[in-house]
Amino acid sequence: VGATEHDPAPGMIERVLELWNGALGERFPLTPALAEQFLSAAVDVDATVVEAEGMVIAKRVGPQAWIGAVVVAPARQRQGVGTRLMTHALGRLRAAGATRVEVGGDPLHLLPGIPDPGAAGFFAGLGAEIEPVVHDLRRDLTDWTAPAGPPVAEPADDWDEVIEFLGAQFPGLWTWTAEEARRRGDGPEAHLLLRREGVVRGCARLHLPGRQRLIGPSLNWAPLLSPACGGLGPIGIDERCRGEGLGLALLHAGVSRLRAQGVRDMVIDWTDLLGFYGKAGFASWQRYRPASFA
Ligand SMILES: CC(C)(COP(=O)(O)OP(=O)(O)OC[C@H]1O[C@@H](n2cnc3c(N)ncnc32)[C@H](O)[C@@H]1OP(=O)(O)O)[C@@H](O)C(=O)NCCC(=O)NCCS
Repeated sequence: VGATEHDPAPGMIERVLELWNGALGERFPLTPALAEQFLSAAVDVDATVVEAEGMVIAKRVGPQAWIGAVVVAPARQRQGVGTRLMTHALGRLRAAGATRVEVGGDPLHLLPGIPDPGAAGFFAGLGAEIEPVVHDLRRDLTDWTAPAGPPVAEPADDWDEVIEFLGAQFPGLWTWTAEEARRRGDGPEAHLLLRREGVVRGCARLHLPGRQRLIGPSLNWAPLLSPACGGLGPIGIDERCRGEGLGLALLHAGVSRLRAQGVRDMVIDWTDLLGFYGKAGFASWQRYRPASFA
């Protein structure tokens, strides 16, 4: 486990904030609390470098690694600094056993990919494969009317049930993040569970600012949103029960619950399912290109 786990070097968070907000702050305003969370994942961070002119934040769990951010101060861009930082990080990650390096989408990520439009050309030049666009979606909930009938989903009261469902259906980042929320002392109630004949068949995580210790990624850019903002994600239905309308029913339940709690400005992060969420009135807000190095 890397030296900066939960304990970044003195001055590191300030430098990360300055570099990030200097280069990306208008589209992606980074708060101190989110910067701290981004840097606190208990993963290997040995390939991370933070200097005055630029930084690369790299994370690794076994053979899977991520570039969480690479940022060069605007006055030092196009002078080879980004290439030097990335070459260092990729070399170090590979030497440590990484076989796949993704750009964004890291544990406790800021971004699910490269901002679009943005620096995809930089990563392509380094050999990355650039993938199709994913979106953060947004909807004004002022006109939202909850569907009729009894609620189809209820907040979880047992972490084990949440983790068991996610672990069976969505092993990987979704399960890791739920376990991380539990480790940090959050309760399970941010997860809405949909049951059929008593069996959990779907799960959606809801986010309200300041309500949970772990800041949900749909609220990463909350400074751009109304104070009455909220978010949802991830949301997933048991593979064996898909295509029966349960996903949309769970989505409607999640939106209605947030609306009842005062949310008027809602975000769903990191998705390519514009058609599905479009049925509930969500539209593209922020765009990213995931990318990876084999
Ligand atoms: C992306 C970034 C890190 C690149 O760092 P840099 O030091 O400016 O890049 P380099 O000088 O090493 O560039 C090498 C080559 O990459 C390409 N490139 C660099 N920036 C690019 C951009 N914004 N768009 C497209 N291609 C780019 C160019 O081909 C460049 O060679 P050239 O200058 O001879 O044409 C820097 O522009 C930056 O900080 N951007 C804002 C933060 C960001 O979007 N980071 C990515 C998401 S985490």
